[in-house]
Amino acid sequence: MPDEEAVDAYLARLLVPEDPVLTGALEASAAAGLPPIAVSPLQGKLLMLLARLSGARRVLEIGTLGGYSTLWLALGLPDDGRLVTLEVDPRHAGIARASLDRSPRGHLVEVRVGPALETLPHLAHEVFDLVFVDADKVNGAHYLDWALRLTRPGALVVVDNVVRGGRVADPASDEPSAVGSRAVLAAMAEDPRIEATALQTVGAKGWDGFALGLRV
Ligand code: SAH
Ligand code: DHB
Ligand code: MG
Repeated sequence: MPDEEAVDAYLARLLVPEDPVLTGALEASAAAGLPPIAVSPLQGKLLMLLARLSGARRVLEIGTLGGYSTLWLALGLPDDGRLVTLEVDPRHAGIARASLDRSPRGHLVEVRVGPALETLPHLAHEVFDLVFVDADKVNGAHYLDWALRLTRPGALVVVDNVVRGGRVADPASDEPSAVGSRAVLAAMAEDPRIEATALQTVGAKGWDGFALGLRV
């Protein structure tokens, strides 16, 4: 009986064509010792499709790592699109920049280095159509608030890693990222600026999930 990872590999082989720039970004990240926590290929393609489905022209990402999800989001942008991605670690940002420079879409991307809570206020004059929140989980609710401030009604907000192996729903778990996920989900439930749902995911990334919301 195949397991979730085998199914993920099967689906990815079928649905996600090999792309040297995307694979190269994962290889460069691994070679530099970055943690293997980028979105999976199938999830990356979902981000690309969500960008296209929503007609996003301006995308904001919080948490760049080696630029793998960034590359996927950029592939979903039109030629005059723009993507700003925020990363606290200058080494991660440098590795991401090098991979982005190998992509035909890389010139659409600006990598901003610094703690996101310090760089977000500098974007206050911009309006985004899609925000992908994937940085330090403890600040998730703050990032959601910024995402809602920086988007127009009709925008899409995606938050990664809200399930954390089920710990989000385990009252005994006080793991900081589970606590952070509960806070971001509660905010998505209560904030009148967003209408949200969440989906569990299994596969190459273990048991986790995305929350998705429409900015209203
Ligand atoms: N989106 C990436 C994975 C991001 S991992 C992908 O799927 O390919 C989370 C990233 O957030 C790490 O690179 C980490 O350095 C960064 N990060 C952590 N705290 C941060 C902060 N306060 N501000 C900005 N980035 C932060
Ligand atoms: C972690 C972070 C992520 O963004 C992810 O997708 C998986 C794991 C982590 O910090 O453990
Ligand atoms: Mg993530």
